[in-house]
Amino acid sequence: MIENILVVGCGAMGSQIAMVGALAGYRATAYDLDPAALDRAAAALRARLDRDVARGRRTRSDVDAAFDRLGFTTDLDTAAATADVVIEAAAEDLDVKRQVFARLDAIAPAHAILATNSSAIVSSQLAGATTRPDRVCNLHFFNPALVMRCVEVVGGPHTSPATVDAVVDLARRLGKEPVVLRREIPGFVANRILNAVRDEAIFLLEEGVASVEAIDTACRAALGYPMGPFELMDLTGVDIGYHAKLARYAASNDPRDLPSRTVTELVARGDLGRKTGAGFYNYDDRGDRHVH
Ligand SMILES: NC(=O)c1ccc[n+]([C@@H]2O[C@H](COP(=O)([O-])OP(=O)(O)OC[C@H]3O[C@@H](n4cnc5c(N)ncnc54)[C@H](O)[C@@H]3O)[C@@H](O)[C@H]2O)c1
Repeated sequence: MIENILVVGCGAMGSQIAMVGALAGYRATAYDLDPAALDRAAAALRARLDRDVARGRRTRSDVDAAFDRLGFTTDLDTAAATADVVIEAAAEDLDVKRQVFARLDAIAPAHAILATNSSAIVSSQLAGATTRPDRVCNLHFFNPALVMRCVEVVGGPHTSPATVDAVVDLARRLGKEPVVLRREIPGFVANRILNAVRDEAIFLLEEGVASVEAIDTACRAALGYPMGPFELMDLTGVDIGYHAKLARYAASNDPRDLPSRTVTELVARGDLGRKTGAGFYNYDDRGDRHVH
């Protein structure tokens, strides 16, 4: 039975994943190498949940009880010793993750499941760093983890069905909607579909078929998307998608995975979206969007 959740890496994702666990009634510990990351996470979570209480979305007593169940630490040995499941949300770097998995394997109880929140690294690249490949899998949350309901659960050939079942059950108890993949594929399901839509949107733009605004409007008004692909790229950062494409190309060597001409030009100009005041759209000082 899962009682204690350890989250390794307390950045944008790990901090909220730990909070999701504590809110669902688990004892959750967030570990990070960097004490400043833990301080930032604790302050950001407090502010966010205080806002939820002020808006009537949660009760003060639920939030206080969740914080009582949530710990922050730089002491991995102690935190891992009682973990029933570990969710790794450290840097997106294969070597870092392999080192983390090898260390966790040495110190976590034999029954503990080791899951990675990686957006792109499948767990078969990590399982070999452990002596418990049957208890290694992907558990992929979406940003912001406190809000987004979907999680993707991906077992590899090494993962036991019991591990997948336990992680699916955990996801449901966390209030999430698990999507189980039948086999591993980099990028999983949701982000692959998002990327395909992005690629088509850029194709239509580069072919001169329609403007940025027209394509975004079609996605919102015809397909019911909350945001068009160009608006979304400007929000998340044009450079993030650019680097994701380069990483995919490095793995596949398939020229179709290279970043598009338009995105490459925007990154070269430093027009990275909302954060720089320009991307596919321009943004004024108030953050209002204007067509180029
Ligand atoms: N940001 C997203 O939108 C998103 C969405 C889904 C999944 N992910 C995945 O989640 C993981 C974390 O992403 P993030 O955006 O939270 O990153 P982040 O940079 O905000 O946080 C990473 C944290 O990990 C810590 N860290 C680095 N190496 C460590 C180690 N060896 N041991 C312990 N802590 C370590 C860093 O100090 C940092 O606090 C990545 O694998 C990423 O692919 C990110």
